[in-house]
Amino acid sequence: MKYIETKEEILSVELPPQLSLIDDSIDDVILPKLDTLKNNKTNNLNKYELHINDAITLSSKQLINNTDEFQLIYLDPPYNTGRSRGSRKHYNDNSSSWSSHIQKVVVNSHKLLKKEGFLVFSINQMELFNLKSICDSVFGSECFIGLFPVKIRHSERQLMINATYHDVFEYLLFYRKHKQTRFYTEPKHPRIEKFDYRIETLTENPRKEIINGKQVEIYQPNEYKIVKDKPSLKNLRRYIIAGKLATANWSGEWFESHLRQLGENLLVKVHGLENEGLGYRWFHTHNEKRRSGVYFQSSLTAGRPILPTNDLDFTEIVPNIYKEGGLGIDFKDSKKPEQLLDYIISITTKENDLVGDFYGGSGTTIAKCIKINRSCITGDNGLESIKIILQRLSNLKEGKDICGIKYNFNLVNNI
Ligand SMILES: C[S@@+](CC[C@H](N)C(=O)[O-])C[C@H]1O[C@@H](n2cnc3c(N)ncnc32)[C@H](O)[C@@H]1O
Repeated sequence: MKYIETKEEILSVELPPQLSLIDDSIDDVILPKLDTLKNNKTNNLNKYELHINDAITLSSKQLINNTDEFQLIYLDPPYNTGRSRGSRKHYNDNSSSWSSHIQKVVVNSHKLLKKEGFLVFSINQMELFNLKSICDSVFGSECFIGLFPVKIRHSERQLMINATYHDVFEYLLFYRKHKQTRFYTEPKHPRIEKFDYRIETLTENPRKEIINGKQVEIYQPNEYKIVKDKPSLKNLRRYIIAGKLATANWSGEWFESHLRQLGENLLVKVHGLENEGLGYRWFHTHNEKRRSGVYFQSSLTAGRPILPTNDLDFTEIVPNIYKEGGLGIDFKDSKKPEQLLDYIISITTKENDLVGDFYGGSGTTIAKCIKINRSCITGDNGLESIKIILQRLSNLKEGKDICGIKYNFNLVNNI
């Protein structure tokens, strides 16, 4: 691996026209002076840093200021494929010290992550299993979330004549620092047409009991009405407690274990069962015609989260990623699609969270962070990469990224 450490080497970087190094007190941070331009999107809350350094040194230096600060660290290191031919120019992808290098970066990354933070690797099959065992040893195997295959090639476009088979996948390896952390998800909107029941109680003094630690009100058949009404988010959705709802659903199990025995045709209000909604849940016990119980859900707790899937197909996007970032960003060393970073960043971070990427390449991560309002600290040990990242940032400033939008952001040295 190539180490670039001297100030002279850094200062000899040829920068795009409107970016220049600020002063000579630079140690390992490149500080472009960015012209004030009329921009369409201004991003003042977030910080952006670009370093020229080896990933181990960079991640160690971050520990001085940023322990427990990163919400996401995304690492896209050389895959150690042994290949350094074809269009690959900037590094020889063959290292006998790959494992010990990565192990150190993973150890540092673990310390840098917030308690609820995520580590995500891009990798191919060459080092996948090795990498999994390195990450398991640092994060604990219980913090492994999953392997997400990313389809990057069409099955038909076979170009490798001497290979044994046509490999069309790369992988994302997801870890979390704490085993209970979940991805951020979008809730599915409740289907309004299903909320068409209203409950009317006809007494203010129902029978009250404590059942299994919960306060319960029991209405006799002449003390309530269950009315079928027009759909409205103010109304309730009726669920029959059958099948999985009776065995694998919290309310269903509660009914079967504690309410069925109360008797037929009762309306029961259980406090503390829909805590994020009404604060209580209504049940209607079974009767002669309907042997299953019923519960009612408010629209406040309706709408399940839509879980991310690991079905990632980028075959249509990969052939065009050379255009991403604008002119001068045609980086051949495994440049990643911005859409892939968008996916990773959106399920692991919220706006203004800090993202780290210590193998910056062409700057896909920092560019995406600027676009979707995350802070980012990135770096690369290759001068060519640093030049490309600077060009990409300059393109973003000038609206020369393919999205055509001008972004105003600050690239500062906070170390
Ligand atoms: C696969 S590329 C990253 C591509 C990037 N994700 C993108 O979308 O453009 C890997 C990068 O790691 C850099 N690199 C290789 N060894 C490194 C090291 N020891 N420390 C830091 N960067 C390194 C290379 O210069 C290369 O730019």
